[in-house]
Amino acid sequence: MTRRLVSVSNRVSIPRKQAAPGGLAVGVLAAMKARGGLWFGWSGELTDEGEPGMEVVRRHGASFAVTDFPRELFERYYYGFSNGMLWPLFHYFVETFHYDEPSWDAYLEANRFYADRLTRVLEADDLVWVHDYHLIPLARLLRERGARQPIGFFLHIPFPHHEVLRCLPVHEQLLADLCAFDVVGFQTDNDLRCFRDAVARLCGEACLAGPDELRVDGRIVRTGVYPIGVDVDAIVGESDRSSQGEMVRRMVASLTDRKLVLGVDRLDYSKGLVERFNAFDRFLQDHPERRGRVSLMQVAPLSRADMRAYSAIREQLEQLSGRINGRHAEADWVPIRYLNRNFAHESLMGFMRVADVGLVTPVRDGMNLVAKEFIASQDPADPGVLVLSRLAGAACELGEAVLVNPYDTHGMAEAIEQAIAMPVQERRRRHEGLLDVLRRNDIHAWHGKFVATLESVASPE
Ligand code: G6P
Repeated sequence: MTRRLVSVSNRVSIPRKQAAPGGLAVGVLAAMKARGGLWFGWSGELTDEGEPGMEVVRRHGASFAVTDFPRELFERYYYGFSNGMLWPLFHYFVETFHYDEPSWDAYLEANRFYADRLTRVLEADDLVWVHDYHLIPLARLLRERGARQPIGFFLHIPFPHHEVLRCLPVHEQLLADLCAFDVVGFQTDNDLRCFRDAVARLCGEACLAGPDELRVDGRIVRTGVYPIGVDVDAIVGESDRSSQGEMVRRMVASLTDRKLVLGVDRLDYSKGLVERFNAFDRFLQDHPERRGRVSLMQVAPLSRADMRAYSAIREQLEQLSGRINGRHAEADWVPIRYLNRNFAHESLMGFMRVADVGLVTPVRDGMNLVAKEFIASQDPADPGVLVLSRLAGAACELGEAVLVNPYDTHGMAEAIEQAIAMPVQERRRRHEGLLDVLRRNDIHAWHGKFVATLESVASPE
């Protein structure tokens, strides 16, 4: 009998509601559609008084159980600890990081709130798969409430080196909580190494039981690398359909034969957008023959907009794009089209298909599914070129992309030129290799491998 998979994450993406932002939502949704089961998390609604509501809906053969959240608690847990402390620290933004105890208390309380509500819908035979940094204490809290099911955890963002991690006063508690899971998975080898190293410093080298196991307090914790992938065939279909649709055709017509360089990112300081705009500016200065012949379209939907670090980067980008456009624009051409809005996933895949170059240049990223979506959406006969940051997890697999250091403005400007000038044979060769990697490790391989490990915990051989 197939056991029911219960995925748990703060952000839930219910199909037919507006698509949720970020790689987690894309990845878990694909897993839910393929395997069914239950996805539990936040509804997106906040309440000011009374008992927060819960709703269960069924779509595409899966159930979605979502809970409203008390506003005040959510703000301290989500903006305060999760995105004000863990997010910057885990992305190596030590200067953006700060710490205060009330936010940590709220984080624990929010996790207790989730644990109480999740306990109500769990069944004895479930496999529980918890996602991301918002929910690190959840396994311990579920166990305290009597849960006996196998519980796994996957971190979608980087796991930092111990020297950075230990800036967080409560890092030992978080490490202990991670060890309360049966399986702990990461995007890359480097993340896994950092985690195992940090646990060894806390519990001693003896806890490194084997290459895929830790022994903590007499229990075995499986550890592994499960790089998240994309649904290649679904994207091929979406991009093909959408590139012939009205919106993409109008955009292409407006380019009037200019080359299109495309970026698609949540507006986040980890995405390297300032560095990217500066590199594009440099590219136009160093290659004046390209002026008026290339446009950069940057789609950057707002994210966590109530936080200061996010409004600051937004202001910075508005000023910078204005300055660059002011410097280079002609009566019939603006170099940067900067859009603070989201599009349907299918439209984005269409934009990617018609782009000549995809710029995915975060200064730090767990994986970055946009890089993989860009490859999957290309026309194999005339593919665009991916320019990818070495500091994104995706670079570990996508060595055939044009790899860059996002802090190297000159190097990035030259990478854009190299990508634009690349002959079609080379573009096809690189694209074929990249697509092969994507197919070998697609979204189904990702959830298949993780869930298989979780299942083996349930019935050890
Ligand atoms: C990243 C994180 C996810 C998060 C997403 C969107 O992909 O790994 O956990 O859901 O960003 O961020 P948000 O704060 O809007 O959920």
